[in-house]
Amino acid sequence: MPSSPIRPRRAGFPQLAALLLLSLSALSLGACKPGAEGSPAPATEARNTPVTATADRDEHSYAQPDKVVTEDLALDLALDFDARTIAGTATYTLQWKDDTATELVLDTRDLAIDKVEGEADGQWQPLQFALAPADPTLGSKLTIETPQRNTRVRVTYTTSPDASGLQWLTPEMTEGGQLPFMFSQSQQIHARSWVPLQDTPAIRYTYTAHVTSRPDVMVLMSADNDPDAARDGDYTFSMPQPIPSYLMAIAAGDLVFKPISGRAGVWAEPATIDRAVAEFEDTEKMIETTEALYGPYRWERYDLLILPPSFPYGGMENPRLSFITPTVIVGDKSLVSLIAHELAHSWSGNLVTFSSAKHGWLNEGFTSYVENRIVESLYGKEFSDMEYVIARNALADGIAAMPEATQALAVRPGTELDADDALSAVSYDKGAWFLQFLEQRFGREVFDAFLRDYFDHFAFQSITTEQFLDYARANLFDKHPDTVTDAEIQEWVYGPGIPAYAPQVLSRNFGIVDSARLAWLGSPQLPPRQITDAWSTQEWLHFLDSLPPTLTHAQMAQLDAAYGFTGTDNGEIAMRWYPLAVRSGYTEANDALAAFTERVGRRKLIMPIYTALVQTEPGLALAKEIFARARPGYHPITTASVEKLIAEAKPAPAPAPAADATTETSEAPSP
Ligand code: BES
Ligand code: ZN
Repeated sequence: MPSSPIRPRRAGFPQLAALLLLSLSALSLGACKPGAEGSPAPATEARNTPVTATADRDEHSYAQPDKVVTEDLALDLALDFDARTIAGTATYTLQWKDDTATELVLDTRDLAIDKVEGEADGQWQPLQFALAPADPTLGSKLTIETPQRNTRVRVTYTTSPDASGLQWLTPEMTEGGQLPFMFSQSQQIHARSWVPLQDTPAIRYTYTAHVTSRPDVMVLMSADNDPDAARDGDYTFSMPQPIPSYLMAIAAGDLVFKPISGRAGVWAEPATIDRAVAEFEDTEKMIETTEALYGPYRWERYDLLILPPSFPYGGMENPRLSFITPTVIVGDKSLVSLIAHELAHSWSGNLVTFSSAKHGWLNEGFTSYVENRIVESLYGKEFSDMEYVIARNALADGIAAMPEATQALAVRPGTELDADDALSAVSYDKGAWFLQFLEQRFGREVFDAFLRDYFDHFAFQSITTEQFLDYARANLFDKHPDTVTDAEIQEWVYGPGIPAYAPQVLSRNFGIVDSARLAWLGSPQLPPRQITDAWSTQEWLHFLDSLPPTLTHAQMAQLDAAYGFTGTDNGEIAMRWYPLAVRSGYTEANDALAAFTERVGRRKLIMPIYTALVQTEPGLALAKEIFARARPGYHPITTASVEKLIAEAKPAPAPAPAADATTETSEAPSP
């Protein structure tokens, strides 16, 4: 793919004066709005045995939805913080689809299965079962003999202390330091490590849970959490709307609640709660904005749970209770588009769900588009444009290095599918770009109404790309003939790269940033304070993103002295500055880099730092040192990613010499 036309072009010096003038006049308009960075996508967990995609089955599950599906799941679980296990029973209410079926096949990973029973004539009877040897990607297939096709089956089990979908933290690893903490992360295929189930998004079921724990911790689930629940170690939950397994979630710790509105609020450790409520005070407005665009919020409450910094993602859209990294609490609301994103999943993802990860863009692309619409509506077009430009520049960098087959939005049947690749920046940012393209062609009014009807039409269903396309053909393309061609749709959905006719987004604010950067690279004059003082997080991110790959030591020291990047509290800045420091041999940043990388387990923020480090022998040695210290506090998903990176490292013997930065080396070739 050619590099994105929205990437800042190399400007000749005669152009600079004009750019600077533009900067200063724009500055007088003065707007600096809150919001957040776009979405370099999280990859799924580090497991690397590819499976082959077929048209309609989910290659990442042993479940057989054509034979039997779970309609309801009743959990009775005990949390044991000392043993780091969950033990108890899972009872399935089943709907048999095939009256010749004699087996119920469930997904499990590292579970000890104690017994399996089936209900017949009101009596629970033991059932035969077999737990297959573990597949490294899929876990262990649990085959239960059900010659009577029981309506209810019950499995008694215990999780492993190393369950891939759970993290258990000691009190020292929490903010308060007094009580332990635990949380789940089920997407993509980790629910099976804490509940035996049909672990495919193709199946939806309601659930209830009775959970016991030590009495001093509060337990929450992706269900009807009661803000007034007594903290007594005995909790019950109900999720009456049918959900897919990857939205199963549980967390426990020293958690307190504060409301944002009648239906929205924050759960967090006492030391964090006030900062979190202030940062996320726009949540109710976000819900109202999304409802105005796409119809009612269908999940009753919408609460946020602030997790410890080891949470491996930015956010996870667990229904009624989004799990959120604390790294977006930066004090100026500049990273709250993460909340818009997780909230948007209440429509795109939780209400209308991909039927398997190869249709991941139906969740993440739609959500990134809706996120941007929420941000535009709340914080203005310039702000949402900045977010699109940041995301699309990252996409342009990433996509060129990807195999062509994985540059398509929807994975074609027959393609080798690695769990790592199923969701990439393509699903997020190319997905959102495609929807923006449709919006521009059909016009906002038509496209908004179409999307609203789409969410209604497929509410509480799990669908494929082809189902979306059939629906769009009948309800959008055919109703407005000659607006898009079949070839264009095919190119977007199944083709590599970004179509040449994709809509282009320009940010006026970034024009100012570009002129400042180019002026500095051409002379050692940093932009005037009046300019940079008005920059939001997004402008700093763009400034850092468009610097040359390496700077001289003097340039690094000058930037650091002026802007204090080393030691920043802002993870989005840290994930850009520290890799630049590593590549440039600016070792003054090493201590702060190490402290950041040890404290934070969010993969998006720390993987670029590890990736920069492992390029050289001394960097690899530092990466190993940091990882050894950080590992006890990392989540299993992060540990797996860092381990893989270090194991596959091919370092150069010496640090790359710090290149002299000039505008000539600074940017990708213009398209
Ligand atoms: N559902 C994802 C997180 C996820 C994706 C977990 C794939 C496991 C596998 C969540 O909604 C998400 O996209 N999070 C992003 C937020 C960002 C794009 C605003 C993240 O964690 O960075
Ligand atoms: Zn998402």
